[in-house]
Amino acid sequence: MVAMATASGPGSDAVPTDHGKVVFQRCAACHLPSGQGVPGSFPPLAGRLSEIASTDAGRTYMIMAVSAGLMGEIDVNGQKYRGVMPAQAGLTDEDIAAVLNYAMSLKGANGEVGSNVKKFDKDEVGSVRSAHFNLNPTEVHGLRSAAMTALPVLEQHE
Ligand code: HEC
Repeated sequence: MVAMATASGPGSDAVPTDHGKVVFQRCAACHLPSGQGVPGSFPPLAGRLSEIASTDAGRTYMIMAVSAGLMGEIDVNGQKYRGVMPAQAGLTDEDIAAVLNYAMSLKGANGEVGSNVKKFDKDEVGSVRSAHFNLNPTEVHGLRSAAMTALPVLEQHE
C-alpha cells in the first residue's frame, strides 16, 4: 500500500502528511473529509484527537480503534454515538501512523487543533498492534474508557 520511499536523515521516522491525507479518504466516507463527522452517526475527529493522543492510553486506543474497530456507546461533546466502526483492514503500520497524524492536524468546528503532541510513527503503531493483536471492537471500547478517564476535560467539554 505504501509506495513512497521514506526519506533518510534526521526526522526520517516522520511520515509525510500527504500520505495520511490519501489514507484519510477511506475515513472520510464516514467522518467526512473535514473530519467533522455527522452528529449522532459518526463522531467528529477534527480538533479532538491531539488531546486523546497526549496520553499513552489514548494513543493505544486510537491505534486500536483504526486497526481493530470500535463498538459501544461513546459520548463526544455531549452527543451520544452508538455506531460501529469497522476495523480498517489492509492498512500498514505506516498507513495508520500517517492517517492518525493527518487526522490530528484537522481543525475542529471552532478552528481548534488541540495541543501539539508527538506524532505517530510506524514503530509505535507496530508495537501497540502486536501487544493488542487479538482485541475485538468491544474490547477497544474498554480502552476508550481508560483513555478518557485520563482526560476528564474532554468528557465535560460542550
Ligand atoms: C464505516 C464508517 C467509518 C469509517 C470508514 C471510519 N470510521 Fe472511525 N468511527 C466510526 C464510528 C461509527 C465511530 C464511533 C463508534 C461507536 O459509536 O462506538 C468511529 C470512531 C472513531 C474514533 C474514536 C473517536 C472517539 O471519540 O473515541 C476514531 C479515532 C476514528 N473513528 C478514526 C477513524 C479513522 C482514522 C478512520 C480511517 C482510517 C476511520 N475512523 C474510518 C465510523 C467509521
